[in-house]
Amino acid sequence: MATVITGIGELTTNDPETGKLNDAALVIEDGKIVWAGPNAQAPAADERVDVEGRAVLPGWVDSHTHLVFAGDRTAEFEARMAGKPYQAGGIAVTVGATRAASDAELTANLRRHVDEAVRQGTTCLETKTGYGLSVVDEARSARIAASIVDEVTFLGAHLVPPGAGAESYVDLVCGEMLDAVVDDVRWADVFCETGAFDEDQSERVLLAARDRGLGLRVHGNQLGEGPGVRIAVELGAASVDHCTYLSDDDVEALAASETVATVLPACDLSTRQPLAPARRLLDAGATVALASNANPGSSYTTSMAFCVATAVLQMRMTVEEAVWSATAGGARALRRNDVGALRVGARADVHVLDAPSVTHLAYRPGVPLTWAVWRCGERVF
Ligand code: NIG
Repeated sequence: MATVITGIGELTTNDPETGKLNDAALVIEDGKIVWAGPNAQAPAADERVDVEGRAVLPGWVDSHTHLVFAGDRTAEFEARMAGKPYQAGGIAVTVGATRAASDAELTANLRRHVDEAVRQGTTCLETKTGYGLSVVDEARSARIAASIVDEVTFLGAHLVPPGAGAESYVDLVCGEMLDAVVDDVRWADVFCETGAFDEDQSERVLLAARDRGLGLRVHGNQLGEGPGVRIAVELGAASVDHCTYLSDDDVEALAASETVATVLPACDLSTRQPLAPARRLLDAGATVALASNANPGSSYTTSMAFCVATAVLQMRMTVEEAVWSATAGGARALRRNDVGALRVGARADVHVLDAPSVTHLAYRPGVPLTWAVWRCGERVF
């Protein structure tokens, strides 16, 4: 069945050939975009939806979340807002709750958060393991994630679990744990930071994952400058995420590489860190993605619109840059060319705003502007 969406006031395609169109229409068929062009030339279809001048853009591509978890960290958040610094160790609280939860509870919690994201326009979502930290718990986290989300990342190297030795834990991650998850994940990640994994340990994990054919991602430079960005670029990681504290060398290395710098403004705010230097990265020529980092500790939001508004209002990205980074940038970070753009042949992931232009995402911050969402050609909101 073909659906034509007519009356589009402003169509953001992220397709360099088409650019941004006013007074446009789109046709969806078999889960794909099959036509985009002027409203007056819209072809007939089985179903017609008139969006009456609203803005249409690709669904958000949220390339960084940690949503296989149980439990709650409100008390930690309250302590942080009272002045206590964010530390990697808080992860252990969620590990305890996650290990104690049943498969059904973890599945329901993940499903609930993914549905929450979809209702806000997210149509492609990555999530990570990393709150299991044992072979059994990482394997079931990967399995549950793979049954629900588009992209799954193994993050056994999130924290050395309480009671384990760092070196023997890295051996476990690089061997038995990777073997247990490899069929359910496309990516491997490591939290390269003081209090988590050092440079040597991070490299061991990433190389072991690469040997098994996984793509690489790195949590780097979140709590201070460090080797994360350098390692990510040297090993050809698809993205390095956080990038809150960057040296000039880090910025130059990113600008000269294919590694996407994924910035996570909701996390920077929630952990009372400075905002990542997105403007500096863009001016140097780096590719920047925006993601939510939805997780119960450092960034408990699934709102990509909040990230876009923050990027514009506080990180000095233009609206166009922020929208691109939250859609096509996320797709680049996940090395996908089927999402993040509304061009013929792309997945029909369509986000309609109850607003005449994408500028309203920053002009009206905090207002729920999602009016309709199609994912893989199916209307899901
Ligand atoms: O991306 N930095 C490491 N991992 C998460 C935080 C997880 C947590 O605190 O539970 C992040 O911020």
